[in-house]
Amino acid sequence: DKGGWSSFMAKEISEEPEAVANTVRGRVGDDGLVHIPELEGLDELFGTISRVVVVACGTASYAGMVGKYAIEKWTKLPVEVALSHEFRYSDPVIDEHTLVVSISQSGETMDTLMAVKYAAAHGAKTLSICNTQGATIPRESDAVVYTHAGPEVAVASTKAFVAQITALYLFGLHLARVRGTLSEQALAENIAQLQSVPDKIAEVLTQQDEIAQLAHWMSDSRAVLFLGRHVGYPIALEGALKLKELAYIHAEGFAAGELKHGPIALIEPGQPVFVVVPSPRGSQTMHAKVVSNIQEIRARGAKIIAIAEEGDVAVLPFADTVVRVPLAAPLFEPLLAVIPTQIFAMELATAKGLDVDQPRNLAKSVTVE
Ligand code: F6R
Repeated sequence: DKGGWSSFMAKEISEEPEAVANTVRGRVGDDGLVHIPELEGLDELFGTISRVVVVACGTASYAGMVGKYAIEKWTKLPVEVALSHEFRYSDPVIDEHTLVVSISQSGETMDTLMAVKYAAAHGAKTLSICNTQGATIPRESDAVVYTHAGPEVAVASTKAFVAQITALYLFGLHLARVRGTLSEQALAENIAQLQSVPDKIAEVLTQQDEIAQLAHWMSDSRAVLFLGRHVGYPIALEGALKLKELAYIHAEGFAAGELKHGPIALIEPGQPVFVVVPSPRGSQTMHAKVVSNIQEIRARGAKIIAIAEEGDVAVLPFADTVVRVPLAAPLFEPLLAVIPTQIFAMELATAKGLDVDQPRNLAKSVTVE
């Protein structure tokens, strides 16, 4: 039931604040720190792992890429993110000190299931992050942390993505507490950040009409580029994937630092480019570098849509449009910056008269390798 919305996708985007809030619920203890009940009894195991390998496909793999930055920062464990199908056939180096974390909305993606089975058969411990109770991948894993995004019907993943990042962050904070790699104060500050995300997403959602106008303006574009850096990089990849899937427009996401190593050759007058701008409060250097990328492509005629935090005026002279997101600690920005890209893809597909819930050639769950 679409509950009055024009599509399941529109409904599911509107549910993103709850998807995050419900995933956090029940996982913060009386001490104000993250205690994931499903992971109780695994402290000893978590004490012995020396690395984490995340396996996933598509949007879920981009959630994994975001999670890598947080988990490495908080736990000091090396985290590698692999596409499930590449991992499975790459003769990966894993042993009993490797924790393989799979991410899957459906819990039925065959590529990811095969990666999990391979990991288990080669002695690794497996943990699954999944949105579907009792699905095959969690049943095949040693442990599971469910995302509580609720059923996702639209083929393109939206609310499950923010719930996946949320679950990865909860897992990172749980692991950091168990392994003693973050102070109680830092653990508490990070969970407070996560708890403030739902209201901030709700604020981003109020800009739907402006983003829809942007989509109308770009409905004839033949290609759209997305740039991001650090945690903004996977958001650039995700924004491009959503646009390909829904609007059948050629779209590419790039790490902003790669521009001069090739992609800048694509910039010609009128080329739309979304730029995920990192907060200057995180790293001034990274912010300055991204603003300078914007200047470079603007000088070559690109049309810039900047996704930037409130009050960041550095982008104003160069951006054709600025979509604002509320202030958040840098690691939490992707949970906000992704929302405009999802809305944009949905609105552009709608403007082209396409079925946003059921794009051509795609299935909600890919149960073949
Ligand atoms: C993109 C999308 C896909 C899935 C991927 C993995 O919008 O939905 O890229 O993310 O097929 O699916 P799950 O998470 O079910 O394993």
